[in-house]
Amino acid sequence: MEIFVCDNYEEMSFKVAREISRQLTVKPTSVLGLATGETPKGMYRKLVKMYKQKIVDFSEAKTFNLDEFYPIKRDNKHSFKNYMQKRLFEEVNLRPKNCFIPDGEAENPNKECQRYEKELSHSGQIDLQVLGIGENGHIGFNEPGVEWSSVTQLVELEDKTVKKEFNTTSGVPNKAITMGVKDIMGANRIVLLASGEGKKNVVERALKGPITQEVPASILQLHPKVKVYLDKEAA
Ligand code: F6R
Repeated sequence: MEIFVCDNYEEMSFKVAREISRQLTVKPTSVLGLATGETPKGMYRKLVKMYKQKIVDFSEAKTFNLDEFYPIKRDNKHSFKNYMQKRLFEEVNLRPKNCFIPDGEAENPNKECQRYEKELSHSGQIDLQVLGIGENGHIGFNEPGVEWSSVTQLVELEDKTVKKEFNTTSGVPNKAITMGVKDIMGANRIVLLASGEGKKNVVERALKGPITQEVPASILQLHPKVKVYLDKEAA
């Protein structure tokens, strides 16, 4: 595991965007695993800028998002589909048919998990998986206690996770469809990013503490190719 401490959020965002653009330069048909949330917003801004400067080309790439709330309308302002449309999909030359994200409107969530898992396996290995980390150690929406062998599944979210997104726990989705730990660990390379003082504790537990299901990100210690990008506060 390589750990890079960046001076600030901007530098961290640039370095992770550069990882993605290098990946696409070496292999234009790459399969990218993508995260949402606050942390990668800067990374997406940098990527869009690089695309506009013709430094990066997404035309042959495929993307798989880690997760989506369930149930949620695609055009809900909190949906990850909406997040991705605005921040990346509508801004670069990714082909819509190559952008995969679990469907928060699916009638049958378990079937949707199976469908997503199938799409993932048809695409072959994820070349580069981008991850954020929750304050409770979750990766994707794999909350503490998750099975290491999990694949895409419907999960119940911790109240804190729901509150962080919606500011309340009532009348909002408390479930999500998430790629499993096994899917994430199957990626060829992983880049984890974390920013801010609030992540300091969990970063230390995940990277230096025991490997335990109580801190799902701790499993990354066993992956052979992980790069961690932190800003000073998270480090
Ligand atoms: C989002 C995801 C989550 C977030 C994590 C950190 O797709 O999979 O694991 O990466 O909750 O979120 P932020 O960056 O908002 O602190």
